[in-house]
Amino acid sequence: MITVAGFNTAIDRLYTLDALEPGVVQRASAVQAYPGGKGVHVAQTIAALGEPVQLVGLTDAFHRNLIARRMSERGVLFHGVEIAEELRHCLALRERGGRMTEVLDPGPLLRPRTCERLLDTLWRCVEDTAAMVLSGSLPRGFEADTYAALGRQVAPRGLPCLVDASGDALRLAADAGAFLLKPNRDEAGQLAGRPVDTLEDAAIVARALHARGTAFPVVTLGTLGALGFDGSDCWHASLAIAHSANAVGSGDCFLAGLAVELTRSGELGRALRLGVACGAANALHEETGYVERAQVEALLPQVKLVRFDR
Ligand SMILES: Nc1ncnc2c1ncn2[C@@H]1O[C@H](COP(=O)(O)OP(=O)(O)OP(=O)(O)O)[C@@H](O)[C@H]1O
Ligand SMILES: [Mg+2]
Repeated sequence: MITVAGFNTAIDRLYTLDALEPGVVQRASAVQAYPGGKGVHVAQTIAALGEPVQLVGLTDAFHRNLIARRMSERGVLFHGVEIAEELRHCLALRERGGRMTEVLDPGPLLRPRTCERLLDTLWRCVEDTAAMVLSGSLPRGFEADTYAALGRQVAPRGLPCLVDASGDALRLAADAGAFLLKPNRDEAGQLAGRPVDTLEDAAIVARALHARGTAFPVVTLGTLGALGFDGSDCWHASLAIAHSANAVGSGDCFLAGLAVELTRSGELGRALRLGVACGAANALHEETGYVERAQVEALLPQVKLVRFDR
């Protein structure tokens, strides 16, 4: 069983409009609402790949049924901690031409008791867990070092902990040393204090993160694929696709593939291959943060995996 801590559950609302005009009242031709947030993306992708998975995250009275239904349809065991306030909403406005405008709300400010309940629920899941994934922004009310502390606490149990965070949460997890960190190009640039544009730049960041105590640092580079360092070799995996429909959430699907293959074989190179196939599979269709297993399996043999020794 893989356990995902994706505390900051969102409700994604997708509005379809002809063309967005600021300052004008407009009517949407369609509105869809579904559970979102990085934890949901990672967990539902792990389930799609055929691995048992549970997700710990926030829920609220208005969306309790929507979230429970979707997670159960997708094969995710969801442990929701209910709050009295509403979950955060992420608004996506899609114009006929395909352009998207997103408005993200800051989300609820949690009381200390709610933060404790989320962490207690997570600890109750640890017993039957083969790997833990800590994914996405922490809800307001959590300390920025929460992921760093969790990684330190589970390490003595031999439980691999994969972290996808940004800003202070990422920096503190890197300072503490993690099992695996997955910054994207921008996040890696923030860590390094200079832009990360090329594979060479990414390899420098990965090696530096390893020297600071992260066993498996992985940098994702969008269409350039991903680069990881396992302590002896740097690996680069990539796959070009003809047309990207929506690459938002590719990092979440990539991380799900990484977690699944690291649980199965423990080999970083193989894990990068599956991650890259999942990231590309997500980009091929409209839905954010989800893949079809058959599509991933069709893409997998096309992923190019090479040792990167520059
Ligand atoms: N357009 C694309 N074509 C092919 N593969 C892609 C594309 N975009 C992303 N990927 C794959 O998905 C992986 C993760 O993508 P990216 O680096 O954009 O992550 P991210 O910025 O963390 O994404 P998000 O935070 O939106 O989930 C990449 O390393 C790559 O393998
Ligand atoms: Mg990301």
